[in-house]
Formats: sequence, C-alpha cells, structure tokens
Amino acid sequence: MGKRIFVFDTTLRDGEQVPGCQLNTEEKIIVAKALDELGVDIIEAGFPVSSPGDFNSVVEITKTVTRPTICALTRAKEADINIAGEALRFARRSRIHTGIGSSDIHIEHKLRTTRENILEMAVAAVKQAKKVVHEVEFFCEDAGRADEAFLARMVEAVIDAGADVVNIPDTTGYMLPWQYGERIKYLMNNVSNIDKAILAAHCHNDLGLATANSLAALTNGARQVECTINGIGERAGNTALEEVVMAMECHKETLGFVTGINHKKLVPISHLVSTLMKMQVQHNKAIVGRNAFAHSSGIHQDGFLKHRETYEIIDPAAVGADSSSIILTARSGRAALNHRLATIGYMLSKDQLDQAYTQFLDMADHLRKVEDENLHELMRGKVYAK
Ligand code: KIV
Ligand code: ZN
Repeated sequence: MGKRIFVFDTTLRDGEQVPGCQLNTEEKIIVAKALDELGVDIIEAGFPVSSPGDFNSVVEITKTVTRPTICALTRAKEADINIAGEALRFARRSRIHTGIGSSDIHIEHKLRTTRENILEMAVAAVKQAKKVVHEVEFFCEDAGRADEAFLARMVEAVIDAGADVVNIPDTTGYMLPWQYGERIKYLMNNVSNIDKAILAAHCHNDLGLATANSLAALTNGARQVECTINGIGERAGNTALEEVVMAMECHKETLGFVTGINHKKLVPISHLVSTLMKMQVQHNKAIVGRNAFAHSSGIHQDGFLKHRETYEIIDPAAVGADSSSIILTARSGRAALNHRLATIGYMLSKDQLDQAYTQFLDMADHLRKVEDENLHELMRGKVYAK
C-alpha cells in the first residue's frame, strides 16, 4: 500500500470561473455526482458569497452528494465565512477553503496592507471558519512568489489557529517544478507544527507546468493535489486531474502514491464536463483528447499492430476510452491499410495489397484522412475473398 494522496477537485469553482463555462444548479449536481463516482476525496462546490445561484448550488450539492467532503471557497472575511458555513450546513463532511494573499505583490498592491496585518487576518479567518464547519483549509494566495520565510510564518500561524490543510497555490503558474518542490520541502522542514496539517498543491498552467509542478510538490511532502477535469480554470487553466492521477498510476512503483480514483471514469467525465461547459478538449490533450490513443504514422501503426505497448503507455480501456485507433492518412503504411481492410472484410494477397496501397496513397493525398467508406469505394469492383 502506497502513500494516500487526497484528490481535491475544483472544476465547479476554479474551473467554473472560466468565461462561458458557467453551469446552473442542475448541471452542477450532475458534475458533482460524476465526481463522486470518479472517487475524488473533496469537491470544491463553489464560492457561496459570490452569488445567490452559487450559494444555492452548494446547498443542493451537499444534499445530493454525501460521500466526498464538500468544500466552499471564501475570502478571509467573517461575512464570507458565515455565508459559506450556512451553504454547507447539510453537508455530511464540510470544509471551508479560506485564505489571503501571501506574496508582497499581493499584500502591497492588491490588499494594500502589511505582512503583520495579513497574518492577523489569516488567523482570524481560520478561527472563524473552525466554528462553522468540520474542516478548514487555508490558502496562501500567490505562494509561488511569496517570500519563503514569511510563507513559513503564515503556514505556522494558520496551523496554530486550527487549519487542517494548508494550500500553497502557484496562483500565477510561475514556478518551475524543482522550485515548487523545494518550496514544499522548505515548509516541511521549517514549520514547527507541520505534522498537525497537510499541505496541498494547487497549480496553474500558465507555463504548461501545472502537472509537473503538482508532482514535484507531492514528491516533496504535499499530500493533497488540487485539480480540475480537462485542466479547465483561470487563464491557461489548472492541473488536469486526469493527467496528475494517471502520472501517479503509471509511475506507482517509483512514486509510491495511491489515490481513490476509478480511472475508468476519466474519459466519460471529461466528455461530460466538456459538453456541459461547452469547452472543447484539444485533440492532443493527454489521456482524454481524441488523438490520445490514435496512431497515424506508418512506423507507429506497424509497431502498434504488432504489439500495442510499442506506442502506448496506457491501455485506453483503463481510462474508459473506446479503443485505440488507426488513422489512415498519406503517412500510413501497408500494415495499417491491410489491417483496416481486413477489419471491414477485404482479405488481400501481397500483390493485391501493393496495388491497393498505390491507389490508397493517391486517395489519401487528396482526402487527408481516409475513412471506411473511402476504402469501400477503393475496393469497389474488385472481388477479394473474406
Ligand atoms: O489559484 C489560487 O490561488 C486559487 C485560490 C483561491 C486557492 O484558486
Ligand atoms: Zn486557482
């Protein structure tokens, strides 16, 4: 048994902040149920103070989904916290995720205050949240760019105040994997009460490093990873749940991590979120993109047809994808053409295949992608036995 990593999904909060991705309460419940079936440990269901609709969605989710902890976001303000507590009142297990800026950029330019005042506000927020929910998570916003020693003071202070989880977000997606890993290690080694809470990784993808950064945090002591389905989220998005979970799964011997995720649900939930949020998944997206298990060059197709693992590190069935596919283009070879023709009923001798392949290349140059109906056209008039 490896070290248990808690998966915190924020599709319905950080993900839903994306313009055009807003969901109504019914749709949010559908996603929350799917996240429950997927096996996430914590669902961040919304930001109740932000709107009556979001408040209501959090209430309805707590009534319908009972296995995972349901979490709500707040600023470090008493009113926000009390409203979130009210929205979470029916939850079997409730969590408030409260926090404030930790970098000098945020403290001086956004919050226009001092480090000492920030520490006081942080402690007060955690104490207030402790009164209204079962668990409190504190986020040190923009921790990626915060002064390390001040960040350690902040983490220590909020743990002393009762925080169960402390989130170290790379809010701007600025960090490199080893820097973020070092930051987590520094906190693990320099915060005297660190054994009383767990650290969470929350990464944004501005440099395309969110998954790598999350893994670096986990290998240096973080026990919770925060992510969204399809990596949706502010700007370039958040850590993609499917990526970080499958990286842990594919490297479980090296990393020694386990999660509660049912991998077979990854592709179905990706489709669900993409459809409801009207946010297309890029074709080459790892794990869930439509080309993630498609092979199109002749060399790859030949190897794949001889032995799947020559060009696939994940069995598509393991993540709930239909099956691997062989895409026929002008870069495909004889092996792929022969395989596809056999699948649709044409068994060719070597000479017949050579002839068909020449015609196929002409066709593929024109069509870009050759479908089964085009192959039937190619074969029309020619009688090849099955
Ligand atoms: O990116 C971030 O800092 C956040 C916090 C609200 C946790 O989303
Ligand atoms: Zn975020």
